[in-house]
Amino acid sequence: MMSNASTRGSKEYKERTDARRSPEQPESYVLRGGQAGAARLRLINRVKWPTTERLLGTAGLRAGMRVLDLGCGGGAVTLKMAALVGSEGEVVGIDLDPSILRLAQQEADGSKLPVTFRHMEAEELNEEASYDFAYARYLMSHLRHPERALESMVRALRPGGLLAVEDVFFPGHICYPPNAAFDRYLELYQAVVRAKGADPAIGPRLMGMALDAGLSDVQVELVVPTFREGEGKRVAQVTIEHIREALLGAELATSIEVDTIVADLQAFADDERTLMSIAPTFQVWGRKALA
Ligand SMILES: C[S@@+](CC[C@H](N)C(=O)[O-])C[C@H]1O[C@@H](n2cnc3c(N)ncnc32)[C@H](O)[C@@H]1O
Repeated sequence: MMSNASTRGSKEYKERTDARRSPEQPESYVLRGGQAGAARLRLINRVKWPTTERLLGTAGLRAGMRVLDLGCGGGAVTLKMAALVGSEGEVVGIDLDPSILRLAQQEADGSKLPVTFRHMEAEELNEEASYDFAYARYLMSHLRHPERALESMVRALRPGGLLAVEDVFFPGHICYPPNAAFDRYLELYQAVVRAKGADPAIGPRLMGMALDAGLSDVQVELVVPTFREGEGKRVAQVTIEHIREALLGAELATSIEVDTIVADLQAFADDERTLMSIAPTFQVWGRKALA
């Protein structure tokens, strides 16, 4: 299904422009972490939440469940899931970035929701039969060995437990009319992720990975939230800004080129006759066998 939401964002994205990669940030991850990373993830969640909420409901998230959110970032979805499972349930968020986990924990502290956060590498998850529902959004496209992470998520599920993953197919963005800065953004993002050994076009691979991990009733959906105005049109310029250090480190672009792309994307987004999608996202869900 294609979601063609054209919405004006209710909150404007605000971030200090002097944000840089935190010293604690894992080298394997191309985007900024910490405070700046959390602000970008909140922006993404405001734009993406309607389709994520639908996925969680369709995949079977229910009150009382024990839930894993792998690669939880600032906890935007983790906290939403904690509200959905309620006081009889529990959500565990896991991430590699300690600074973003501290921010997630601060949000949780004020909420009294049933949520805990753990600092861990996704591929090292080593729990068995502990969760009713395991979820990961925009994690697999950053991993060198996403199959291992998915298998460990399935292992962590109880028999009959449910899994839902969603991730990007970066080459499939919609941009109309064609725009050179947007094309260059797609090219650079994919190049820097591939340079880390990960796959920015992983979306269509997820279904096969779920089948290989032994899930049954595997289903798939493609969502492409596309915008004429509002915050959805800011994601591209914020994302290229957030991979600036990784691009410079890999010598894929200069700071001047990144500045030019950001300015051109802003001008393009400001024109209400243009259309931009966020990254097309494959959603895959299924069930672990009962015995
Ligand atoms: C694009 S963010 C998505 C965060 C969250 N799932 C969301 O949708 O808002 C990816 C997250 O995965 C984390 N991450 C990257 N590589 C990881 C790894 N190997 N193990 C655990 N977390 C990882 C990053 O620190 C980051 O917080």
